[in-house]
Amino acid sequence: MFYTNCNHISVLLDEAIQALNINSTGVYIDGTFGVGGHSKLILSRLAKQGRLLAIDRDWISVKIGEFIAKQDSRFTMIHNVFSKMNKYVENMGLIGAVDGILLDLGMSTLQLNDYSRGFSFMRDGLLDMRMDVSSGQSASEWLSKASLENIAWVLKTFGEERFSKNIAKAIVAERRYKPFTSAIALSKLICDTIPYRNMHKHPATKSFLAIRMYINDELKEIIRVLNDALVMLSPKGRLVVISFNSLEDRLVKYFIREHSCVVSVPSKLPLTNYQIFSKYKNECQLKNMGKLTPSKQEIKRNVRARSAILRYAEKLIL
Ligand SMILES: C[S@@+](CC[C@H](N)C(=O)[O-])C[C@H]1O[C@@H](n2cnc3c(N)ncnc32)[C@H](O)[C@@H]1O
Repeated sequence: MFYTNCNHISVLLDEAIQALNINSTGVYIDGTFGVGGHSKLILSRLAKQGRLLAIDRDWISVKIGEFIAKQDSRFTMIHNVFSKMNKYVENMGLIGAVDGILLDLGMSTLQLNDYSRGFSFMRDGLLDMRMDVSSGQSASEWLSKASLENIAWVLKTFGEERFSKNIAKAIVAERRYKPFTSAIALSKLICDTIPYRNMHKHPATKSFLAIRMYINDELKEIIRVLNDALVMLSPKGRLVVISFNSLEDRLVKYFIREHSCVVSVPSKLPLTNYQIFSKYKNECQLKNMGKLTPSKQEIKRNVRARSAILRYAEKLIL
């Protein structure tokens, strides 16, 4: 079956499962099922009474998950974006009772290696870039009508591309002759437009990342799910997030910081720890457990892991 042939190597696999601190009878959510690498390891740690809810917006991942769900009653597979997980958690009566939420952001190798979906700037395919091909607009549709300013903004904001305006101008000029439907045509246009200095990084890397993040609304997805996680998690429940770029990681880092405060009382302040903690109770809902990065051996085995950062936090007992 294609499940075993997709070559996806799960990043920070053991570290993520350790960070979840699995209780064998607990309820867990894998918000980014992919090909199920993390999910399978979570299932192996669960007893009969344990439950795992997995979500993915990609239909191919959902098919893989449904195959597992048929054989394992502890496992449920859902097709949706992870920002909607609270809806399912609420329907199942599990608000405040989830023991761990895992997010392994970005793309699976299954998606990256399927050139027909347009994620790659190295091989040709239809310029689609949607993780869920059944909803939203494709990259090609967006590029055919977006304003020059909007394209430049996306490239700058999500790709931190210095030459965003030059690239946007070139796209708008080129699309007058023919619509952008091919990934390699866009990649070539970018190569011809910007100075080619860094031989280690393809000139289209940042633009492709930016367009993908915009088309899939990736940063807003993270902001929404993080806020809901606070409500879904049980006391001592764990939030574990693996990011692959600085924009994603910053969101996770600041979210955890904002909601975990170390309350230390200056000696002369006439307030007890309890009084201060009560005052900041709403902000102080998490204990920051720190961050982990892949070992040299893991990066050697799987180059995709090189930019990964895992951050985790524990819900406090309030
Ligand atoms: C890096 S892969 C996960 C790999 C997985 N942990 C494994 O070991 O097989 C990321 C997956 O998350 C999915 N994904 C990304 N953003 C999503 C979102 N907002 N909602 C649901 N799924 C999402 C992608 O479709 C992809 O399958």
